[in-house]
Amino acid sequence: MRVAGRLTADVLDMIGQYVQPGVSTDELDRICHDYIVETQQGIPAPLNYRGFPKSICTSINHVVCHGIPSNKKLRNGDCVNIDITVIKDGFHGDSSRMFHVGKPNLQAQRTAQVALDALWHGIDQALPGARFGDISHAIQKHIEAHHCSVVREYCGHGIGSNFHEDPQVLHYGQPNSGNEILPGMTFTIEPMVNAGKRHVRLMPDKWTVVTKDHSLSAQWEHTILITEDGNEILTLGAAERAK
Ligand code: MF3
Ligand code: CO
Ligand code: CO
Repeated sequence: MRVAGRLTADVLDMIGQYVQPGVSTDELDRICHDYIVETQQGIPAPLNYRGFPKSICTSINHVVCHGIPSNKKLRNGDCVNIDITVIKDGFHGDSSRMFHVGKPNLQAQRTAQVALDALWHGIDQALPGARFGDISHAIQKHIEAHHCSVVREYCGHGIGSNFHEDPQVLHYGQPNSGNEILPGMTFTIEPMVNAGKRHVRLMPDKWTVVTKDHSLSAQWEHTILITEDGNEILTLGAAERAK
């Protein structure tokens, strides 16, 4: 899991320089695909997963998650979530980050920051002996205190030899509820934050999830391991590992 997590972070570190005005999300998909398959000798988990047609997810502006790469080009001021899942030696690493294209849009920057801080508040609660509701509650509280909303239809998940396993890690809920968090567990936390209302709509392609009110949406995701005395974030990028 550590190796898969590191490779996932490496892909996100690698792709940042290519996220520029004029690049298509298909090009980003191809660069990540080739890097995972050729350089890392891994497998991009999304490709053909339940019929998903590409190797990464690219979710632009009001797209909440599961955006499908296409020939559409990124424009100055767009923000895009890139979600990477690498399989290595049978284990999965899953992580996503927000990238701003050209000159960042202020509201997009603000929403992305709320989502990132919410993820970290969740990680702070991910301790042995705590309960999953503690993670959920910390995330919801932070997001709503900042006048944004939490998407409820999608959640974090157990991860290991399968992409998505039990438990579901909700991003809203009550403290001191749910199952106990135990050493050895590996799961993702991946809050989706809308600048407007929480409601979402599935597009006719059956993958792309958008905000119903077309407000901006942001998401960050890490895969974490629960240890005897805390947690280890398996998908930290080089910059965060250096801290
Ligand atoms: N990576 C997403 C997650 O965080 C799942 C994408 S499923 C796919 O769980 F099929 F769209 F790739
Ligand atoms: Co995930
Ligand atoms: Co993901």
